[in-house]
Amino acid sequence: MEVNSDDLNAGTGTKTVADQLRSPKPPKPSKLLKSPKPPKPKERVIDAKVSENDLAEQAEEVSLRPLSFADYIGQERLKNNLKLAIDAVKKRDDGTTLDHVLLYGPPGLGKTTMANIIAHELGANLRVTSGPAIERAGDLASILTNLQNGDVLFIDEIHRLRRAVEEVLYSAMEDYKLDIVIGKGPAARSVRLDLPQFTVVGATTRTGSLAGPLRDRFGLIHRLEYYRIPEIEKIISRTARLLGTEIAPEATQLLATRSRLTPRIANRLTKRVRDYAEVHGNGFIDTDLAEGALRLMEIDELGLDPADRNMLELILENYGERPVGLTTIAALTGDEAATIEDYYEPYMLQLGLIERTPRGRSVTKKAQDHLAKVRRDFA
Ligand code: ADE
Repeated sequence: MEVNSDDLNAGTGTKTVADQLRSPKPPKPSKLLKSPKPPKPKERVIDAKVSENDLAEQAEEVSLRPLSFADYIGQERLKNNLKLAIDAVKKRDDGTTLDHVLLYGPPGLGKTTMANIIAHELGANLRVTSGPAIERAGDLASILTNLQNGDVLFIDEIHRLRRAVEEVLYSAMEDYKLDIVIGKGPAARSVRLDLPQFTVVGATTRTGSLAGPLRDRFGLIHRLEYYRIPEIEKIISRTARLLGTEIAPEATQLLATRSRLTPRIANRLTKRVRDYAEVHGNGFIDTDLAEGALRLMEIDELGLDPADRNMLELILENYGERPVGLTTIAALTGDEAATIEDYYEPYMLQLGLIERTPRGRSVTKKAQDHLAKVRRDFA
């Protein structure tokens, strides 16, 4: 796939993608390791459509994210594999870069965090974009031509890349080449540009939607698994410490069981419970305050919130235990089918609250018993 030179920097607003990408290189890893608190790798969000509010929202979450494998709790298999690959690259020290990495799994399990860590451990710049943000092949060409040797390019929701964009990515990932067409009509000629050596870290909630040729270009492909409760407890303790909040061990255990085995949710709950403890107590999170906050948020014993339970209730009311298609569920709840599939469903499937059959999804007896109990508890 070739890119027309006119397309370079197209469709990215007043600030070109190139402008947004430019940033100095961070210090070498050896220097980073010597300082007790290493500086964060240079991260640039190169999605022109991210609003100021979104960025402020993300800022607190970003500050809670670990920056090294040593601070990252859980996902041991993934960490061991990545550590080995990164150590090998560093040991070779011959200018070659880490193979492209594809991370997949449900949202909130740490794919973005892992991309940050990969860049940090390599001592490289991290460039951040996402599948839907790259509208045209020219946008991707601008991003690629502005990379520096060794950069890590994080592409979130990589399954949402357009076909024309994806095709440009193939040769860029495979041989670090970019084909562009200069001029139009009979005078047009094709030029093959050399790109710097870079590593793509792609993140997706589904590998199924990723085109085979794209998937094949990743040397490291890993699934992020749901966390175990003791791991979530450690994450909550770490987060409370970073927030400067004290939390009782029993309250940590309680929050861990309500966090859907997902660090992003654990961190969100910890922050909301901290707010509650500051308003209703002296800031120390004990079990009573944690329970009060969870009740206020209507988060039940399995970690389901009102939107999750609403989905189950709507299916039961309209279809009973019969299987129902994804688009029908989406129509019932008013969500997009992708939201149901990516956000609601994976945890409920894991818990056995819904079952997936060839004829659709059905609500299980376990879910019905749970809903009845919640109705009593919240009455
Ligand atoms: N914050 C979010 N995910 C984390 C993890 N896996 N380890 C430590 N802190 C985290």
